[in-house]
Amino acid sequence: MLYNELKPFPKDFLWGASTSAYQVEGASEEDGKGKSVIDMMDHPEDTAGFTVASDHYHRFKEDIRLFHELGLKGYRFSIAWTRIFPEGTGEINEKGLQHYEELIDELIKYGIEPIVTLYHFDLPYALEEKGGWGNREVIDAFVEYARILFNRFGKKVNYWLTINEQNTLILHPGAVGVPKGGKLPTKTSLYQQNHHMLVAQGKVMELCHEMCPHVQIGPALNMTSMYQATSKPEDAIAAHNWETIRGWSFLDLAVHGKYNNLLWSYLENRGWQPEILEGDLEAIGKGHPDFIAINYYSTATISESTGDASDVSPRAGDQQIMLGEPGVYRAEENPYVDKTKYGWVIDPVGLRLTLRKVYERYNLPIMITENGIGAPDVLNDDGSVRDDYRIDFIQAHLKQIQWALTDGVEVFGYFPWAALDVVSTHQGYAKRYGFIYVNRGEFDVKDLKRIKKDSFYWYQKVIESNGKDGLDKNN
Ligand code: BG6
Repeated sequence: MLYNELKPFPKDFLWGASTSAYQVEGASEEDGKGKSVIDMMDHPEDTAGFTVASDHYHRFKEDIRLFHELGLKGYRFSIAWTRIFPEGTGEINEKGLQHYEELIDELIKYGIEPIVTLYHFDLPYALEEKGGWGNREVIDAFVEYARILFNRFGKKVNYWLTINEQNTLILHPGAVGVPKGGKLPTKTSLYQQNHHMLVAQGKVMELCHEMCPHVQIGPALNMTSMYQATSKPEDAIAAHNWETIRGWSFLDLAVHGKYNNLLWSYLENRGWQPEILEGDLEAIGKGHPDFIAINYYSTATISESTGDASDVSPRAGDQQIMLGEPGVYRAEENPYVDKTKYGWVIDPVGLRLTLRKVYERYNLPIMITENGIGAPDVLNDDGSVRDDYRIDFIQAHLKQIQWALTDGVEVFGYFPWAALDVVSTHQGYAKRYGFIYVNRGEFDVKDLKRIKKDSFYWYQKVIESNGKDGLDKNN
């Protein structure tokens, strides 16, 4: 749809950027932090681990000064559960709470809104040893952890996110990693974990509303749109299958408290349906998110399944690279879009489409909590980092957000991934995302100096003008 004029970004639009605890903090064994599944993970030998990461734990004040210079109105970060409860439950580690209190206070000092994710992939290992999310006890542990955070920070933090990308955890567990020597869980156990996460999330949202009625809380899922490869009706069904299983079914539960009919039939037919105890659906249904957070990177193209193993692509899949599933869908190439160096489809228009669909379906305000391009940025001898591809990527996506706003979609914040360079989930440090370059290599951590990339200066201009400058190629 074309319009005569595009709507401007709302005047209080939250211009931000994101990180997550284990990918940015380092200090993985300091100040009483317990081990998480990430600390115990088997990761590829040629990629950096997470022990130092970007050393944000020690350098957060310097980083926040830079965020202020960048003009950020909000900073989305996650709290490491294991800094608060080293064993996942039981004794509280006051030093962990103090650390996040200092970080939050520092943000507030600079007028930057803290947006806190409760849990971003880093389950305490002590809980994993008891069966992880497969064990119902983790529900109570998560609620208790959230209670401590709401109690301590509920007056300072206005926006909370429950679980980062529950759909990635369930559908692409290999991308997040498995504990050393561990095996990837079966579908039955993954959907049981999923169910427990949903109960935990519902309880935490309800608790948040009780304890901090003035704040807002919502789920953060990895959302995208699936295109059908041709106008063949069976391709349309396959695209709908996978869009529902991968995305809508998670949001339907988080927002409406109901198992999506298609997901349920898919699970039941394969014997993968979770055990649901009395009171579970009620707990899920009492959650009522105030907004929806979406992480958007790319779209995928889908055709009808042939029904045999050839549907599964031989490449390594991850959060954005679809693999195919016999009887459900096949992944296809899209000739109309480019890809990043890491094979992720670049599709800004897909963001507009996804925003339209999410808003139409749930009618809740949307915060975009991740969007960005991973690239092997280079630090030049003159101290510059020329990441024009990042500027092009974010510029094109922002333009589509403006189209979505003009379509009538309520988008109130944009938090690109990432505020500064962080360790990728499974592809090391060379795959950089930040506006701020961190001077370290894959294994040589060098001086970890912070260097502003070209995209830093560009995003600064966008924020300063509330999206008026920097969105057209020539300004
Ligand atoms: C999202 C995750 O799926 O994608 C982030 O929430 C992650 O944790 C981001 O870093 C980019 O993915 P990757 O695998 O390139 O680090």
